[in-house]
Amino acid sequence: MRTKTIVAIDGPAGAGKSTIAKRLAARIGADYIDTGAMYRAVALKLLRTGTDYKDPEALQTMLDAMDVDFSEGHTILDGEDVSGLIRTPEISALASPSSGVPAIRYKLTALQQAMGKRKSIVMDGRDIGTVVFPDADFKFFLTASADERARRRTEEMRAKGDPADFETIRADIIQRDYQDSHREFRPLRKADGAVEIDSTDMSIESVVDTMMAFIEARDR
Ligand code: DC
Repeated sequence: MRTKTIVAIDGPAGAGKSTIAKRLAARIGADYIDTGAMYRAVALKLLRTGTDYKDPEALQTMLDAMDVDFSEGHTILDGEDVSGLIRTPEISALASPSSGVPAIRYKLTALQQAMGKRKSIVMDGRDIGTVVFPDADFKFFLTASADERARRRTEEMRAKGDPADFETIRADIIQRDYQDSHREFRPLRKADGAVEIDSTDMSIESVVDTMMAFIEARDR
């Protein structure tokens, strides 16, 4: 990579953002940052401290005493690696509504912007191209049909030995899509100038290759 580069990848749950962002980061020698994991870490802290995200004072006290980082594939909450604790249905269910709270978004946005100051990054989330890095060098909006996203997630969970139910996962994906794209504050939407890629019938490698083609075209 010629210069410090910022790649923003946004899209709905289960579109393959994290797998693709991770591979793209490895190909261009950038750090990969999963911002969804950071919102999940906040949800974990809400649960652990019994904080109601609808109580502004209690929430601010919690946020002021909280540090969230994402480094080398690990999610760090107040110095503790919580990567293994944030992929539960309970955390997913709480991360979606709580991530709509402005105080939480302000705090994480500032942390994410600071990460991009240091080096090249590929960052995935819901508002990276719209809010966190509106001037990113490359912006992608990655989608896939709800059925395909549910199918992928079901397979992923079954591979881990979880007897996942397709219909339940599909309903959960549709519910989260709705919440993420209809929330009042900074909803999920395609950023101006973002390249939309529908991965429904594409392999992971072909999505990464498509993104690489855009990046290489600039560097040529
Ligand atoms: O991508 P994920 O499923 O791990 O994200 C968890 C939740 O956090 C999801 O409901 C959307 C929200 N999120 C967000 O609002 N903004 C981001 N940049 C990333 C995730």
